[in-house]
Amino acid sequence: PRVAVVFGGRSSEHAISCVSAGSVLAAIDRERYDVVPIGITRDGRWVLESGDPARLALGAGALPSVDGDRAAVTLAHGVSGTDLVVTDAARPPETLGEVDVVFPVLHGPWGEDGTLQGMLEMSGVRYVGAGVLASAVSMDKAFMKVVLADAGLPLMPSLTVTTRSWAADPDAVRRRADELGYPLFVKPARGGSSIGISKVHDASELDGALATAFEHDPKVLVEVAAEGAREVECGVLQALDGVPETSAPAELRVTGNHEFYDFEAKYVPEEATSVDIPAVLPDGVEEQMRALSVRAFEAVGCEGLARVDFFVLPDGSLVVNELNTMPGFTPLSMYPQMWAASGLDYPALVDRLIALALQ
Ligand code: DAL
Ligand code: MG
Repeated sequence: PRVAVVFGGRSSEHAISCVSAGSVLAAIDRERYDVVPIGITRDGRWVLESGDPARLALGAGALPSVDGDRAAVTLAHGVSGTDLVVTDAARPPETLGEVDVVFPVLHGPWGEDGTLQGMLEMSGVRYVGAGVLASAVSMDKAFMKVVLADAGLPLMPSLTVTTRSWAADPDAVRRRADELGYPLFVKPARGGSSIGISKVHDASELDGALATAFEHDPKVLVEVAAEGAREVECGVLQALDGVPETSAPAELRVTGNHEFYDFEAKYVPEEATSVDIPAVLPDGVEEQMRALSVRAFEAVGCEGLARVDFFVLPDGSLVVNELNTMPGFTPLSMYPQMWAASGLDYPALVDRLIALALQ
């Protein structure tokens, strides 16, 4: 089968997507799959990439990005199915043939949020991971909370602020933030990799944090900080019969100057984040976490995979922080590491995901 690995994209997580894709491209079994690497530039152009894993690796100075100088490529719905067509200005259009499955290794808006998924549905192309609705709901932290709360999952209290509600009545927003109680986290509703997130210790920091988050999204979540909580994540992956299975959980311990698991703590290798896989948790907590992960996966209607992020509160109770429908696949990312620790190595994980999409 022919697999198009799509990466980069228009979101602020462009570089992380490239790094994720570098690892996925290195792991795909080339004897079984014909792999076509497709990059999406930061301004949304699709190009035929080299897909050289070394070029997409993390570290060594600059973060990678899609090379916009390469030949343009489109997905064209033709008589015989959906073809990949190279439309380089310098040569006549050339079809690369049909695509059997797309692996959207894309994080954030225009990739992980149902937009690409909708395009692929319209084109009749199969793809790895969540469908339109589950992707869209999971990408939007405000709607995700509505769905998870409706399913009875434990969440931190929060309020949603838009640029419009903030401009209309900032004092009302400040009052509601006071009612939630500090410290708070302010997060772009549709972000990822902690970009645009600030911890707000008291009322004097609220306006600045909102301004920072609004640079990324006109919709922002103001959420009670889970003080003293441990950050633990759990992977969900469907078996070939559709049953969602869970990985061993992983705990992240952020040290040094990082107050939370921010972008640098996540992706700058020399920054101090220590990881315990499996997480060492009080009796019964792991079982509870695995069960809640499956409930979250099903509440949203995910397919294929998801990473569910939790807080373990000081009293041992669990709170769902969020759900990611295309979690990071970089060498530092938790999702593949949790599965490796659970007996499914990186190539086998990639293989399962493609096989699920091809079913
Ligand atoms: N949004 C990043 C890629 C993650 O969840 O791993
Ligand atoms: Mg996320």
